[in-house]
Amino acid sequence: MSFVLRLAGAAIVTAAAGLTFTFTHPPVTTIQRGYRGLGLQVNYLPSYVQKLREINKVPDPEPPIDPAGSPSSDTYQNVKVLGKVDSLEFLRVMASIKDWVAPVQGCTYCHHPDNPAWDVKYTKIVARRMLQMVEHINTDWAVHVGKVGVTCYTCHRGHPVPSRIWFNAPPPAPAQLGGMAEANQGKNIPNVTAGYSSLPYDPLSLYLEKGYNIRVQAAVALPGTDSNSLKHAEWTYALMMYIAQSLGVNCDYCHNTRAFRDWAQSSPQRVRAWYGIRMVRDLNNNFLDKLHDVFPAYRLGPMGDSPKIGCATCHKGVYKPLYGISMLGTYPELAANGLVNTTADIGHVMPVPKE
Ligand code: HEC
Ligand code: HEC
Ligand code: HEC
Ligand code: HEC
Repeated sequence: MSFVLRLAGAAIVTAAAGLTFTFTHPPVTTIQRGYRGLGLQVNYLPSYVQKLREINKVPDPEPPIDPAGSPSSDTYQNVKVLGKVDSLEFLRVMASIKDWVAPVQGCTYCHHPDNPAWDVKYTKIVARRMLQMVEHINTDWAVHVGKVGVTCYTCHRGHPVPSRIWFNAPPPAPAQLGGMAEANQGKNIPNVTAGYSSLPYDPLSLYLEKGYNIRVQAAVALPGTDSNSLKHAEWTYALMMYIAQSLGVNCDYCHNTRAFRDWAQSSPQRVRAWYGIRMVRDLNNNFLDKLHDVFPAYRLGPMGDSPKIGCATCHKGVYKPLYGISMLGTYPELAANGLVNTTADIGHVMPVPKE
């Protein structure tokens, strides 16, 4: 075979492989979300939807039990946040927390085997704060989570460290060449956060921890007064890529793409998302960041910061976590019932008491 033919053969094979792995195959299910003919639709791949269904199955609750009739604060020694909960129901909650957060590790993930009242593991201190956080979400963020609400399972799904948490990213390395290429603002480094686009890789620190305005236009018209506007446009688009893939939807789910900015042409889901952004900021600033000194160093990020919550930490790729099925019906203490003491001091890690 001539060299040219071989070369052509190799080129065809490479191109075919590239085509096979680059494009997705039909069938694609489309759901219309606006007026006909405008392409306002959300696309789903049935095979991928099947995978998401697996991830978002609701586990069976622990069977109900007859109450003991006495509150936990009377029965146990060191109950700070669940004191009002019935003392037998308390154990049912413990069994559930074990299933939701540490099914492999068991009760001793948070407790010393000799005495569950001791605060000797950081995980128990974090778990107390998490109980307060769940109560806070279900009570004060009903504008986002509705009556569906959340439990530990919404984020943890059977793992001590939830999937799809995030950290502050290290700043981009200065470009080798210097000059105009000096500051690349974190662009052209494909990563999962910005949906493998060439957009800046860390919009989350700015918008889901700090409270920067999510805008593509400068707030003032005068030149030289808002040097951030171009950067913010890019960060905004990067954040939107993140939001869309966290919920497994495209931009049309919230926007009419001919006028992203205009609320009058947006869907009600955009309003939910607006509250969601504020909720996530609140959770990161007032819960996760404040637990910084409780987390051991190996749980902190490359910049030494706390692990943080994003949209995907709850949503896991679908428009409503667990497809909108509520687990609160069988766990009234985690719903907005005032049964968790949200202002109690969560204590701190102490050495194992000596006999
Ligand atoms: C993810 C962490 C975690 C896991 C796993 C866990 N617990 Fe707990 N447990 C806690 C926290 C937090 C408290 C304190 C609650 C409070 O202060 O209101 C607690 C308190 C207790 C207490 C009260 C002790 C006292 O006298 O003060 C008992 C009993 C208990 N747990 C039993 C269990 C059992 C049994 C299991 C396994 C089925 C278990 N726990 C699994 C976090 C956990
Ligand atoms: C909105 C999401 C969310 C919910 C709901 C949630 N957690 Fe967490 N949890 C997190 C994040 C984020 C972390 C930090 C991960 C890490 O420790 O590296 C975390 C960490 C923890 C840890 C420490 C694990 C470790 O190994 O470091 C424990 C224990 C825990 N959560 C218990 C609970 C319990 C119990 C509940 C329910 C009362 C709960 N969480 C609800 C997001 C959540
Ligand atoms: C789940 C809902 C949701 C999805 C999906 C979504 N957005 Fe957004 N978008 C919002 C919300 C909410 C805001 C306003 C945020 C704020 O003001 O804090 C916004 C703001 C914007 C803005 C800024 C508008 C302005 O006022 O300057 C642009 C541009 C934008 N989105 C583009 C996109 C693109 C592109 C996509 C798809 C990759 C997308 N959005 C997907 C909810 C969404
Ligand atoms: C603490 C968990 C949690 C986090 C974090 C979270 N959400 Fe949600 N979200 C929910 C729950 C629960 C629902 C379902 C509420 C209902 O059905 O009433 C929901 C519903 C929504 C909906 C409405 C979907 C529909 O079709 O009606 C949108 C849009 C949404 N979330 C966007 C976001 C965005 C954007 C973020 C990140 C900025 C975010 N969420 C973060 C728990 C969360």
